[in-house]
Amino acid sequence: MFCINKRKFFKLLPKSEKGMEEMCGIIGKVGEENVIPQLINGLKKLEYRGYDSAGVAFVEDDIINRVRAVGKISELKKKLSQEVIESRVGIGHTRWATHGSPTEENAHPHRSKNGMFYIVHNGIIENSEEIKKNLLPYNLDFESGTDTEVFAHLLEKYYDGEPVSAIAKAQAVLKGSYAFGLICKDYPDVIFGAASGSPLVVVKGENGFYIASDSGAIDEKTVEKYSVSCGEICKITSSAAEFFDPSGKAIKKQREDSQNSEDSFEKEGYAHFMLKEISEQPRAVKDTLDSLISLGGVWLPHVNIDEDFFSEILEKIVIVACGSAYHTGLVAKHIIEKLTGVPCAVEIASEFRYSHPFIDEKTLAIFVSQSGETADTLACLRLAKHCGAQIISIVNVRGSAIAKESDNVIFTKAGREIAVATTKAYSAQLAAFYALSIFIGREKGKLSEEQEEKYIEELSLLPQKIKETLETVNENAKKFAQKICKWDKVFFMGRLTDYATACEGSLKLKEISYINAQSYASGELKHGTISLVEEGTPMIAVLGESKIFSKTLSNICEVESRGAQVIVITDIAKENLLSGNRTVISVPDTLSEFRQSLLVLPLQLISYYTALLRGCDIDQPKNLAKSVTVE
Ligand code: M6R
Repeated sequence: MFCINKRKFFKLLPKSEKGMEEMCGIIGKVGEENVIPQLINGLKKLEYRGYDSAGVAFVEDDIINRVRAVGKISELKKKLSQEVIESRVGIGHTRWATHGSPTEENAHPHRSKNGMFYIVHNGIIENSEEIKKNLLPYNLDFESGTDTEVFAHLLEKYYDGEPVSAIAKAQAVLKGSYAFGLICKDYPDVIFGAASGSPLVVVKGENGFYIASDSGAIDEKTVEKYSVSCGEICKITSSAAEFFDPSGKAIKKQREDSQNSEDSFEKEGYAHFMLKEISEQPRAVKDTLDSLISLGGVWLPHVNIDEDFFSEILEKIVIVACGSAYHTGLVAKHIIEKLTGVPCAVEIASEFRYSHPFIDEKTLAIFVSQSGETADTLACLRLAKHCGAQIISIVNVRGSAIAKESDNVIFTKAGREIAVATTKAYSAQLAAFYALSIFIGREKGKLSEEQEEKYIEELSLLPQKIKETLETVNENAKKFAQKICKWDKVFFMGRLTDYATACEGSLKLKEISYINAQSYASGELKHGTISLVEEGTPMIAVLGESKIFSKTLSNICEVESRGAQVIVITDIAKENLLSGNRTVISVPDTLSEFRQSLLVLPLQLISYYTALLRGCDIDQPKNLAKSVTVE
């Protein structure tokens, strides 16, 4: 049944949830001692939200100063180290540019004309041009090309000595999504904040109060934590926090669970976070599986769907995600269909949200996201909910928007992932899908208890096999990286689940090494792409699907006879594959349903070593951000 309410649903959404959002990180602190070190550390931790430029504004002797720099936090830190700053009140920002190029003028904090307000902003003001035209003086000189600056001027316009009421009046004219942090010259011991549609938390640390886009950015032990949303306003001093509704009326807010995350923000001796996270995969997969398997059966602690739904109602499964998370869906589709007998479609979230999705009460919609903040995936989740589908989300970050808005969640236990290129979260997502497929298979009556036992037994061996694979393929991955690092193009191929892994391998390689890497379903090569193959062209073939072994092997021979240098990533006996110049990288054997968890590992390592040889910024590749909260 086509979901006819979709248009109505879009009309009902606040604009911020339909539109774009700038992906930035903000932090602010009022303390008893110098806050600059904590602002810098916090911004460093928020770099996953963007790293085009950064800046801070702080109060010194009742005067507000500002330092900004293009590039990463390290550039801002260099600039700040040239001055001696002692400040107990400061706000900071790290930016992923949407409105205005990544220049110093466009870097936050922005200020109002007479310098009464300095503000940092995460989000997007959709009606900034309209505000400029209709609400601000026509001859106002703007210092930047950003949408944010209009808010600073609006505050000044509405300011009558009371910042909370100025914020209330200014935000009443905004359309879009925002989390603001701001300092007002008349109140040098205070930071104000407001948020709607973008995350903002207030945290009491051991040494003062903070505002931040993510509580993980805060260096101190969290004593109390509050979320600011739906136009609420906050006011923090070094010893207290106050909250106001969107009209500026004081409100009491409920404290949230302030458990401190034990996830490390350190590389712990590894050259890069990506390498550290690759090596953490056995643990990530084990922890994920341990949380979902108990007493020999799959148990999904945060899934509360009536048994009847699976046994009587379920007709169709749809998986929606972006990037690598989408690739886990491509793998999962085949396993789900095999273990449950239910047809499963896999959709790219940014496409799905504007298509004509056939989802209804008989559909199980699965949303996959490491960050839990991906704007397109979140929009699709809301759409599917509106259409009456049952929802299960597979999410790594607890407390994220997707986790909060999903009725049922499977939490992956990858731990905090910092490298932009996902590895351990990817593996944890695959593990979650294995457990979910077995669960649905059993509920549907398609899998017997014996089959379930067999799968669970093999899953218990998977973390160790991942460890073994990482150890045994490492040297080969380094060698192969040397072969491909000078090439501008690399191809990947595979069929069925091998194709899904080929897609993930090519995304990983292009993302961090900037090599043009493309993946193809092996059978498609002859329909066009093979014309690009020249003498020496690197072609990586993923070959695990034994039932179509001979087919993919023929495709390998076809590209080899046109000059390609082929590397085969496989769990099939090497003797059957060695020939000519071909390189074969073998991974251990496991059940066919789980093999992509092993086949993907050499591809992660090849990408890592290739990017290393090319001198790329592995953890923070250019133009990217870890969390894509913009449509
Ligand atoms: O946080 P999400 O899992 O929703 O992110 C989805 C993609 O942006 C993400 O997987 C991206 O493709 C990775 N950087 C790939 O390594």
